[in-house]
Amino acid sequence: MKESLKNTLQQYNQTQLLRFENSATPEENAALEAELEKINFAHLDKLIKDYVLKKPEISIPADLQPAPYFPLVPQNDEQKKLYADAENAGRKLISDGKVACLIVAGGQGTRLGYDGPKGTYPIGPVSGRSLFEYFALSIRRNEIKYNTKISWYVMTSLLNNQQTVDFFEANNYFGLDKKQVFFFVQGTMPAIDYQGKLLMSSKSSLSLSPDGHGGTLLALKKSGALEDMKAKGIEHISYFQVDNPLVPVLSPLFIGLHAMEKSEMSAIMLAKTNAFEKLGNFCLANGKLQIIEYSDLPDDLAQSLDENGKLRFISGSPAIHVISREFIEKLTADGTLSLPAHRADKKVPYIDENGEPVKPESPNAVKLETFIFDALQLADKTMVLESDRKEVFGPTKNATGVDSAESCREMLIARDCRRLEAAGVKIPRNTDGTPAVKVEISPLAAVDDEDVAIYVKNNNITEILSGTERVLA
Ligand code: UTP
Repeated sequence: MKESLKNTLQQYNQTQLLRFENSATPEENAALEAELEKINFAHLDKLIKDYVLKKPEISIPADLQPAPYFPLVPQNDEQKKLYADAENAGRKLISDGKVACLIVAGGQGTRLGYDGPKGTYPIGPVSGRSLFEYFALSIRRNEIKYNTKISWYVMTSLLNNQQTVDFFEANNYFGLDKKQVFFFVQGTMPAIDYQGKLLMSSKSSLSLSPDGHGGTLLALKKSGALEDMKAKGIEHISYFQVDNPLVPVLSPLFIGLHAMEKSEMSAIMLAKTNAFEKLGNFCLANGKLQIIEYSDLPDDLAQSLDENGKLRFISGSPAIHVISREFIEKLTADGTLSLPAHRADKKVPYIDENGEPVKPESPNAVKLETFIFDALQLADKTMVLESDRKEVFGPTKNATGVDSAESCREMLIARDCRRLEAAGVKIPRNTDGTPAVKVEISPLAAVDDEDVAIYVKNNNITEILSGTERVLA
């Protein structure tokens, strides 16, 4: 190992990483050296002191206010006109090829407990189609609907990139043009034990994990994706997460309002169901929009009510954004971006001082991540639009229970049945109001109410019989 690197490790008390230098093969040493060379130890050392060796203090700005937002239903004629104009503007931007889709799929999905990239998880309630297929078909439907080509940027991590690309290949890109799909790999962060030491997963490698969805912005720059967007004339990016198949991959109203408001980064908000719902809270501090995590918002603020008895901090974030390309270019112009770190205590497998693998039963290390929503504070202009949860948000975090694959499938069925009813189709319902059918509309057939109305008419569907299990494709 290079002397200069050894000196750096000495300087920052990380010489445990040299432990196997004599017993490792030259190849193993070279691989480890290459990983270490990429680390800015001065910066990491500061993070370790601030976030690992002590628990970071959460400072809540004194003048914290609820963030303003555009309501779900326009409140007056002027707003009605604004929404109609915005929707038209959004449709035009999409058909002019000025909007790309961006999915973040670099997470480890540990809570779901599924072996493989989360996007390959079979979510379709009847079809069993994967999360990736859901998004791909929605994008394809939008291409047909708007008579355009849509570029799709797919962020993976070092841990799942190859499997993800293989999955797209094996499925023929789900009918999309392969040239429209741009994979890029996010950065990693080493796991750090409670003594502030970097852990190793083998003699040739650190225990590394993805650096959080905040890593998206810099990864877009470093991978050349931003340049690719510029070359294609893409101005706005529709950002969504791999675990939410309900999301409209392109929402004309949201995109149009973002553009008309000249917003650099926009967000969808949902009315929280209760004061402590586990969603980030949209707040305003020093005139800047920011998201305060549910765990960080003091109870008295979380529970405070306005003059109508409604929660003051009502706005929760489902992590759906539109981001301007130029904003990301501005943030990453010098090839760096420093978003605040967030600490997560995790069970991280490692090798001990004898080189033996250890699989801890309880958290033994800290992972530091950055979050994309912290970029909101860096924007000169932002915009928040309310959405209807039933239409846009079915997070698949766990295998069962709350925010699970199970609840997401129920939401997909409920949403599709609601759309069919809106188009005049008779849907039998159980006594609790849930549909007495298992019906799934293929995103290739319809991505919104307008599409469903046409589909129903073309296929002459008037009623779905109780007990039906069917994919409408
Ligand atoms: P989550 O915060 O739910 O994390 O990610 P996760 O890693 O997927 O799941 P758990 O916590 O281990 O169970 C929200 C979204 O952000 C992406 C995920 O893929 C998901 O779409 N993400 C998260 C990344 O792309 N990179 C990351 O480093 C973290």
